[in-house]
Amino acid sequence: MNKFLCCTLVFLDIAVKWAVQETFPPTYLHYDPTISRQLTCDQCPPGTYVKRHCTASLKTECVPCPDQHYTDEWNYNDECQYCNMVCKELQYEKVKCSSTQNRVCECIEGWYLDLEFCVKCTECPPGFGVVQQGTSESDTVCERCPEGYFSNETSSKASCKKHTNCSELDLKIIRKGDATRDNVCWGEKGDKSVEQCEIDVTLCEEAFFRFAVPTKFNPNWLNMLKDSLPGVKVKAETIEWIKQRHSPQEQTFQLLKLWKQQNKNHGAVRNIMQGVDHCENSVSKHIGHLNVTSEQLNILMENLPGKKVGKEEIDRLLKRCKSTEQILKLLNLWRIKNRDQDTIKGLTYGLKHLKTYHFPKTTIQGLRKVVKFLHSLTVYKLYQKLFLEMLGNQIHLVKVRRM
Ligand SMILES: *[C@@H]1O[C@H](CO)[C@@H](O)[C@H](O)[C@H]1NC(C)=O
Ligand SMILES: *[C@@H]1O[C@H](CO)[C@@H](O)[C@H](O)[C@H]1NC(C)=O
Ligand SMILES: *[C@@H]1O[C@H](CO)[C@@H](O)[C@H](O)[C@H]1NC(C)=O
Repeated sequence: MNKFLCCTLVFLDIAVKWAVQETFPPTYLHYDPTISRQLTCDQCPPGTYVKRHCTASLKTECVPCPDQHYTDEWNYNDECQYCNMVCKELQYEKVKCSSTQNRVCECIEGWYLDLEFCVKCTECPPGFGVVQQGTSESDTVCERCPEGYFSNETSSKASCKKHTNCSELDLKIIRKGDATRDNVCWGEKGDKSVEQCEIDVTLCEEAFFRFAVPTKFNPNWLNMLKDSLPGVKVKAETIEWIKQRHSPQEQTFQLLKLWKQQNKNHGAVRNIMQGVDHCENSVSKHIGHLNVTSEQLNILMENLPGKKVGKEEIDRLLKRCKSTEQILKLLNLWRIKNRDQDTIKGLTYGLKHLKTYHFPKTTIQGLRKVVKFLHSLTVYKLYQKLFLEMLGNQIHLVKVRRM
């Protein structure tokens, strides 16, 4: 019982001492010579200073700091401090001088304080990413992009980004990325299929698929089309990937192409492939036998609207492809550069201007026949047979373009 009382008293004693130290307002001891005694005076609040110490009968007299002066704590100073901070070059005034605070200067965005001076924050070069962004007081911290990550820019903000996982999108990888470049997936700009004389979307596929492209922009169209196609569905992430990389018209082609790729053995796809083969045979018959010189091919490409295919690209392609394939590949190359254009329309436009170049009549006629064929009822009927049946009643949502 005694022991308990003793401990309680000790505890109370500590509590009282603590309370005295924390009195509010804070106080200070002042020796008053007139009464030869020490007095406990109240301190002055921030923004003021002591004009007169307290006496036995009067409280401390506090007055505000003069202009450009401050006190930032409870104090018993007989004057305020001068706002002595001066903002230097490349610094801005983060906090203005006031009666309660000194001026605060900080390096401008993108610079940090190193000793006395503002120094530009390091920009991580390609192959390196930001691990820690610079602040007004510390430099950027860069890291070399680890395996599977890349950065293709010089930046004080961008971190290393993960390589696009092509297989996760059900796409083929065409070029493996490294620390400075992303993976290139199949069907992307810059892919190498053209150089290998492969065709991205053939004229015939385009002629077919064109009918499936809505004439009015419909944000849901691609998902609707995906859901109505039979067989293995194209993944939602892949749809997003297509949307990010391709123009609205191109999106439909790319989706159908992927779906075709993933459902090679599906009856519907086999039907379409047969239709496309049939169409391609007809096109080759009209074009394949034409003996077109590289000079003429250059003129033809020069006359197509939109972005031009350069002479060098044409030469490179002519070396790789068989003469019977050259025109088709060149048209494909043009289309890749002009993703939002219709090859058949482009070709029609180009043909109008060829006469002036003394093009052989047979060549112009051959190309005309191709255009006519691709516009023909035969192609439209094939499309109707293959697509309308397959897509069922979904297609009424889309206005079908009639030629
Ligand atoms: C970096 O890569 C992105 C996407 O892959 C591309 O859009 C951008 O133009 C590239 N930037 C540079 C500087 O190469
Ligand atoms: C890509 O995704 C696939 C499927 O999710 C996974 O098996 C593979 O490890 C991933 N590749 C990389 C490099 O992350
Ligand atoms: C194409 O024409 C050129 C000359 O105009 C001729 O030398 C060449 O043998 C022809 N090629 C074919 C496949 O007809």
